[in-house]
Amino acid sequence: MRPTPVTAAVRVRRAEVSDLDDLVALEESSFAQDRLSRAQYRKHLDSESALVLVASANHRRFLGTAVVFFRKGSTIARLYSLASSPQAQGKGVGTALVEASEEAARARGCRALRLEVRKDNATAIRLYERLGYTRIGEYAKYYADGADAFRFEKQL
Ligand SMILES: CC(C)(COP(=O)(O)OP(=O)(O)OC[C@H]1O[C@@H](n2cnc3c(N)ncnc32)[C@H](O)[C@@H]1OP(=O)(O)O)[C@@H](O)C(=O)NCCC(=O)NCCS
Repeated sequence: MRPTPVTAAVRVRRAEVSDLDDLVALEESSFAQDRLSRAQYRKHLDSESALVLVASANHRRFLGTAVVFFRKGSTIARLYSLASSPQAQGKGVGTALVEASEEAARARGCRALRLEVRKDNATAIRLYERLGYTRIGEYAKYYADGADAFRFEKQL
């Protein structure tokens, strides 16, 4: 019998105001710059053009987050941010969040999901490639510290 994948236990839900402390703390531990502020998260929670997702599992209610942006009249959604809690990494949380983002984009009639990732972020790049994302371009000096980005896309 095949073992049950850990992802089966990861649940993804919409973020709520009560998640703000966890969202901000994870943002601070995950990214050195280009961070979303508490006010920005607060705004995105109520925005029609944003979706903030939170992963939980069993008794732990906050293991990671994904932020997806939509634009009126566009069928391309954007995975703006993805992070899992340091102690939860390598257990399928990131995968579950990306898959839930795709599902949400599909439900809104989008035909593709796009994202940018630092060229030196091998872990994230491996995850996106494993999930079927392909490189469609790059941006020089995309991040505040001057790092370059790859652009990835997946047809939904
Ligand atoms: C990138 C990031 C979101 C990945 O999150 P994660 O929760 O570790 O992702 P997953 O666990 O789904 O996948 C990571 C690896 O663990 C493996 N994995 C998943 N479930 C597993 C399990 N049950 N047992 C063993 N390995 C497992 C996956 O196969 C994957 O390996 P691969 O990508 O080399 O194929 C996380 O490292 C992170 O938050 N990094 C800091 C912020 C960041 O860089 N975000 C991305 C910005 S674009």
